[in-house]
Amino acid sequence: MKPQANLRTGKAQTATLYEPFICKVLSVRDLTPAEKVFRLMRDGGLPFRHRPGQFMQVSVFGIGEAPISVSSSPTRGDYLELAVRKAGTLTSAMHQLRPGDTIGLRGPFGTAFDVEAMRGRDLLLISGGCGLAPMRALIQYVEDRAGDFGEVTILYGAKSPDDVLYKEDLAAWRQSGGLRCQVTVDNIRTGTCWDGHLGLITALIPPLEIDPTKTMAVIVGPPVMYEFVIKNLRQKGLSDQNIVVSLERHMKCGVGKCGHCTMGHLYCCLDGPVFRLDQLPNLQEMI
Ligand SMILES: Cc1cc2nc3c(=O)[nH]c(=O)nc-3n(C[C@H](O)[C@H](O)[C@H](O)COP(=O)(O)OP(=O)(O)OC[C@H]3O[C@@H](n4cnc5c(N)ncnc54)[C@H](O)[C@@H]3O)c2cc1C
Ligand code: FES
Repeated sequence: MKPQANLRTGKAQTATLYEPFICKVLSVRDLTPAEKVFRLMRDGGLPFRHRPGQFMQVSVFGIGEAPISVSSSPTRGDYLELAVRKAGTLTSAMHQLRPGDTIGLRGPFGTAFDVEAMRGRDLLLISGGCGLAPMRALIQYVEDRAGDFGEVTILYGAKSPDDVLYKEDLAAWRQSGGLRCQVTVDNIRTGTCWDGHLGLITALIPPLEIDPTKTMAVIVGPPVMYEFVIKNLRQKGLSDQNIVVSLERHMKCGVGKCGHCTMGHLYCCLDGPVFRLDQLPNLQEMI
């Protein structure tokens, strides 16, 4: 991995691979009862230099470290947003953070969505649950470079209306003339107001009019989603070269040293988390 250059000295800055740099929490916002979004600014206002699809290793000092996907596009400015589900020790500590607090970050790490390969293509962006977090970074990028891409369709699925992330963004994308956006939930509690679809995300794919020769699909979501979404996309005529997935593994170092994230001969932290489907000969085993 190439060391990042220190913008002030111009010298290679290998320390950032292993040593967290300090970031200030600018704001904290509730997405759902279980998920919060943190907007961060790097000490000294330095840019993060991330690309949509990459992740950061986030540390709360004295607690630990965890990989979290970046959920904002670099085209939006020199800040970075992370959507974090309260899952255990580190993420619970993150949920205690307030504006003005500091945390450590290493990264950005991992492969990104190949926006160059997507240029001029129609995009089908399919996410489920927390998968909307990294997908949002790509959607923002595509919004900001609208002329570079063909038709953009966003499909998002969550368990229930309460679990839907980024409701305001989804509403804006649904109203946007430049994007097609559909949201579905698996279940609706009696008495809940819901104006989206009801049912699994796979049900949204067959009615779509897709030109398989000019469409690239991106999938980010819980493991159970991949098999069925991919089956539907192949039935639409998409080849594996035009299907991109982002995978998750338990990680420690994030830089290909510890072996925690191996998937056969691949490291999820270095070779992924973003893969083209034709790079994953045994996807079922890797999921
Ligand atoms: C590339 C990548 C991107 C990620 N992006 C996000 C994100 O944008 N937002 C977010 O909220 N979470 C994300 N995660 C998951 C996040 O890293 C874990 O939830 C976090 O490490 C849990 O740490 P903890 O100390 O709070 O939990 P722990 O106390 O370590 O564990 C709590 C529970 O979470 C499970 N867990 C821990 N790590 C993972 C993992 N990688 N995958 C699935 N389950 C796990 C444990 O098995 C345990 O059941 C991402 C993971 C990866 C690998
Ligand atoms: S997390 Fe250590 S090798 Fe990938």
